[in-house]
Amino acid sequence: MSPESTDSTKRAEWSRYGFVLAAIGSAVGLGNIWRFPYVVGENGGGAFLIPYIISFFCFGIPLMILEFTVGRGFRGSVVTAFGRLHPRLRHLGLLPFVMTLVVFSYYSVIAGWTLAYIIFSVTGYMDFKTFTSSPLPLITFFATILLAGTVVKVDLKDGIERANRYLMPMLALALLIMFVQALALPGVQAGLAYYLTPDLSVLSDPGIWVQAAGQVFFSLSIGFGVLLTYGSYLSDSAPIPRSAAVVAGADFLVALVAGVIIFPVVFSFGFDPVSGPQLAFITLPRIFSTMAFGSFFGALFFILLFVGALSSILSMVEGGVATMVDEWAWPRKKATYLVCTLAAVIGLPSALSYAGFNLTLFGAPFLDTVDLLFGILLVPVSASVICLAFSWLWNPESLLAEANKNSRFKFSRAAVYYLRYVVPLLLLVTLASTVAMTLL
Ligand code: ALA
Repeated sequence: MSPESTDSTKRAEWSRYGFVLAAIGSAVGLGNIWRFPYVVGENGGGAFLIPYIISFFCFGIPLMILEFTVGRGFRGSVVTAFGRLHPRLRHLGLLPFVMTLVVFSYYSVIAGWTLAYIIFSVTGYMDFKTFTSSPLPLITFFATILLAGTVVKVDLKDGIERANRYLMPMLALALLIMFVQALALPGVQAGLAYYLTPDLSVLSDPGIWVQAAGQVFFSLSIGFGVLLTYGSYLSDSAPIPRSAAVVAGADFLVALVAGVIIFPVVFSFGFDPVSGPQLAFITLPRIFSTMAFGSFFGALFFILLFVGALSSILSMVEGGVATMVDEWAWPRKKATYLVCTLAAVIGLPSALSYAGFNLTLFGAPFLDTVDLLFGILLVPVSASVICLAFSWLWNPESLLAEANKNSRFKFSRAAVYYLRYVVPLLLLVTLASTVAMTLL
């Protein structure tokens, strides 16, 4: 229970902005740019933003602060942090570890699609069905994992931190150009009205609230253990609450702007905005192939998706790698090879389910079922385990001292009670409703 006493070697540390950029990179990803707009579209447009913002503040930000605090306090990745909290709890850390490995595996399949679409934006778009019936998704899946592994195997500063120093400005620039372009389109008013006008009647549907909560978890990378791992490289001088506010704020802004980019485009070209997950891979490519400078904007859009996905994948790889380095004292390179190989093997059925083999599980494409089980159902379970274990078993004084270190904003003991009672209750309700809605 005394975290610092077990820390014998000097751990790598982020530079001041390196941490914030890497954490934004982890949060901002397919969840914001690809999933958020279509989830909004399917759940009553602007009204969805209300439960989203409430979930964001009620448990998104508090859990992000908790993960950063635990990481820095215990100076270890997720399995190690649990082990240091109590040796008997070490195995609980395997839950986020395994969950993140599986998410990494199928997430890389979708990231691979975006990589292929960057190329298609120049060569001409292949129809989505033709694409997913060819071996191409397999190739881009392996290429994505290889690229992520190449970055992570280098040490923290020259690998992940350096990559994010390039990737995040690229993402911001691509987003800005597309944002300005979207605002100049004729369908901007219709698009924004659809996106932002709240239809309050949908709020009585519990499904909307559950979707919003799930979206917050996925988008902020809560419960994956990767924020905890990133927090373990945080220097004592960094104010955690402020860093969390910047990371969460950037994540929300990107999600919001992604919708502002997509809906005006969809409306300007007379398409239906409620077209499910394939909005990005079917509707938008059709539009890009007919619009002025479509190749440029298409390439920019898919670069945006790929850069967001890659920076999130880097954190998922690091979550696994850091566990092996901390637990077994493995060299970083060896750990990276193992994590990436495992992801390539575990992700193969997901990749094959969209690469001509039509592999299914419980009646849906393998990838969709694995996403439901691991990316949607397991995430609140994992977040609850982290929240319950550390808010109950870590001495509240130590938790608060770590969270408040060098922060002008100070948490009081009420924050610990909030984490002990309120957040787990909210998570339980979310989980129960998600399970009920999935099974019924
Ligand atoms: N947080 C990452 C995303 O939103 C996983 O895509």
